[in-house]
Amino acid sequence: MGVRQGNAYGIFFDNTFRSNFQFGKFNDGFYSFGAPGGELNYYFINGPRPKRVVGTFAALTGRTPLPPLFTLGYQQCRWSYMSEARVREVTSGFRKRSIPADVIYLDIDYQDRNRPFTVNRQTFPTLEQMVKDLGQEGWKTVLITDLHIAAVPGYKPFDEGNKAGYFVKNPDGTNFVGPVWPGPSVFPDFTRSEVRKWWGSLYADFVKMGVRGFWNDMNEPSVFFRADKTMPLDVVSSVEGRKTDQREIHNVFGLENVHATYEGLLALAPDVRPFVLTRAAYAGAQRYAATWTGDNQATWNHMRLSLPTVTGLGVSGYAFVGVDVGGFSGSPTPELLTRWTALGTFLPIDRNHAAKGTRDREPWVDGPEHEAIRKKFIEERYRLLPYIYTSMEETSRTGVPLMRLMVLDYPDDPRMTGREAEGQYMFGNNLLVAPKVKEFVDGYDMLVPEGVWFDYWTGQRVALTNQDNPEMKGKLHLNPKLDEIPVFVRAGSIIPRQPLVQNTSEKPKGPLELRVYPGPKCMDYIYSDDGSSFGYKRGEYYRAQLSCESSGNSVKVAIAAGEGKYIPWWTSYNMVVADAPKAPASVAVGGQPVSNFHYDAKSKSVSVTVPFSQAPNEVVIQY
Ligand code: GLC
Repeated sequence: MGVRQGNAYGIFFDNTFRSNFQFGKFNDGFYSFGAPGGELNYYFINGPRPKRVVGTFAALTGRTPLPPLFTLGYQQCRWSYMSEARVREVTSGFRKRSIPADVIYLDIDYQDRNRPFTVNRQTFPTLEQMVKDLGQEGWKTVLITDLHIAAVPGYKPFDEGNKAGYFVKNPDGTNFVGPVWPGPSVFPDFTRSEVRKWWGSLYADFVKMGVRGFWNDMNEPSVFFRADKTMPLDVVSSVEGRKTDQREIHNVFGLENVHATYEGLLALAPDVRPFVLTRAAYAGAQRYAATWTGDNQATWNHMRLSLPTVTGLGVSGYAFVGVDVGGFSGSPTPELLTRWTALGTFLPIDRNHAAKGTRDREPWVDGPEHEAIRKKFIEERYRLLPYIYTSMEETSRTGVPLMRLMVLDYPDDPRMTGREAEGQYMFGNNLLVAPKVKEFVDGYDMLVPEGVWFDYWTGQRVALTNQDNPEMKGKLHLNPKLDEIPVFVRAGSIIPRQPLVQNTSEKPKGPLELRVYPGPKCMDYIYSDDGSSFGYKRGEYYRAQLSCESSGNSVKVAIAAGEGKYIPWWTSYNMVVADAPKAPASVAVGGQPVSNFHYDAKSKSVSVTVPFSQAPNEVVIQY
């Protein structure tokens, strides 16, 4: 994507061969791209605005489907929780301490000798029962199921696939065998629909057990003990009968792997939104799987890289993305893990993961002070779920990612196309996040976009100081303490929040909070559905437009008539209107004056309870 003076265009080079891109390497007056094979097939997308480029690219390659709600909760992973006992210890550790969480992952060691679709019955003797018990406690289990199949007779996936000739071949027609986690392995030829169908059927037992998601790792495909760490270029695939090799297929191997997994899961449970996590992808893979940024390191530098990598994926059509919170290899310091946990709250996927041989990463491992801070931020994620879910639903229709580059929302601000903007991002339409990502700094400056901004945590207007210093013009100096992450709200937004729950299968008790920040272009939505089925495609959802308007000494907030057949969980709203100059002279709900409002002088806000109704409703505050 190129952006110049607020105008943007996109180029999508749709070629699966090894591609090269030269960005001004020889001459900064031009860039070029190419590939050694295939068609010179590229799309030029005329924005003219950056958001349009991203949206059009998503329309072309496919949008990220609405994810199941639980995937937006906190996810705990590690390589590996080695036994049922350890898994239960970790999951009950969360519940005992009332730290909300939804997902527990089992990495490769739950398997028999690392063989996909098997279970090590020594260490996981009653996996079925465990999955069931955890389900009762509001946990969803996600299993890793890599694509490499151990090349050993007697192992069902090998026997079946071998007999049918489903694995990729050497040029001489024998199976290509390469070592990965299970030792010498073969690889399904996912470019054939027949093979994809068979692969999908391998999930039947796990789906029956109630396993709710699957992790397709190593699907570049990864092959050990080779300099290129992948398959030789002459390994043969038969794309629906047309023979070709890795030169053409390498870049789409991961895509076709998750294509197979996603469709297999749909075939096994047609009314359940699948959750698949992939490491490798090609344009379009977002239709089938979420991704993460791979094996990062437990360093400040890699925490900093979470921002450009996730926002970069976001403008490349990949909206549902996480990073290993805490860093995969190496062990984070307590401070780094705490800062990263805070950042995790404001990432599309909030997943804590760790490599074998590194220290424990569960939120409580560094003593009570760090635990309390991490808990506070994980709780904030759960409170913010209505906003996050509503934003993801919008993403599923528009392709504009939840976590996004500043330039998507502020294309006319030339600062936002530069490196300087790399340390901050928009989270949905209304939140601006500027985390501390450098260790040894005495604070840092955030670029403040046009308009008025509020501090998300205090509800106060942001006051820009030092504005006569040209260096600080339009900037805000930040120096967040260990228990803080700077988040700001755009004036002209309505942020829905919910009462705290311990996991997403728990129904929130109490009203839905609507935090109103009066200002221009105040138009948002609230969206809700059952969180897991495809009912929303049949009209079983709830969506209402929210808007606000301020003029002189009054603020009007409107909740439009609800759309859809779904009845959301809340029966009332707690509306909190920020930026109140003084105690209101009157408050009216649906045209009727009410007295049950409250003015908080400290946060300068007015709160009022508004009953839920399917019909349009309106609150007017007169100061
Ligand atoms: C790869 C993955 C990592 C996983 C490990 C073991 O390195 O990227 O996330 O834990 O394999 O399965």
